[in-house]
Amino acid sequence: MKTGNCAVSVASGVEREKSMEIKLAPSILSADFAALGEDVRHVTPEADLLHVDVMDGHFVPNLTVGPAVVASLSKCTDLPLDCHLMIESPSDYYEQFAEAGASWITFHREATDDPGAEIEAIRSLGVRVGMSISPDTPFEEAKPWIRSLDLFLVMSVYPGFAGQRFIEAVLPKIESARQLVNESGVDVDIEVDGGIGEETAASAVAAGANVLVAGSAIFGASSPLEAARRIRNAVSELLGTDND
Ligand code: DX5
Ligand code: ZN
Repeated sequence: MKTGNCAVSVASGVEREKSMEIKLAPSILSADFAALGEDVRHVTPEADLLHVDVMDGHFVPNLTVGPAVVASLSKCTDLPLDCHLMIESPSDYYEQFAEAGASWITFHREATDDPGAEIEAIRSLGVRVGMSISPDTPFEEAKPWIRSLDLFLVMSVYPGFAGQRFIEAVLPKIESARQLVNESGVDVDIEVDGGIGEETAASAVAAGANVLVAGSAIFGASSPLEAARRIRNAVSELLGTDND
């Protein structure tokens, strides 16, 4: 259910851009895993996607959840499941995540030598395709494939843990991606993930992001729903636009 969308005017870093829908993707990484269904229901009125962080203890030094949890989530929510795979050999698992109910599958550029093959493999499963770059990966490493994606995810913290500080140095990569997408006329969402909250959301949107992932800022708050609303309002206020 989407009830909190806001249309804002954003700057690409190069030019003022058209109005576009901002999507909020709460990350369950900071939710209570013993009460996951309940936590998801709480934020659903302000959520457009549900962000699921998959970590394998190899690509990143942390372990989280896999297809079994995605399958359980898909039974308890209508929100599209935005599965962010921070794992080695991601293509070994695309089918399992697709069968479990993933709507979006995002692999990491750093986890593959052949992004084109990853894109094709995900697309063949009828799932939307995302590719992510970590903070130290240059934009040029992703550029040739961005127009073939549905979602380009720019990490604004080092992948692995919630609650880290937003890295402002990634903003030019968001600007470059927005410029490329707009100039090419392709329909590619630009997502930012890490350290997003009331203070940082607007700068990410101003740079050109239209999908905001937020974990600790939402599920770490006493009222996750109110926290999600505050993030939307911060984006609207700082850009001088209305929130629906
Ligand atoms: C980090 C994950 C993020 C994480 C963000 O590797 O990819 O999705 O949940 O958490 P916050 O919003 O707390 O930085
Ligand atoms: Zn993530």
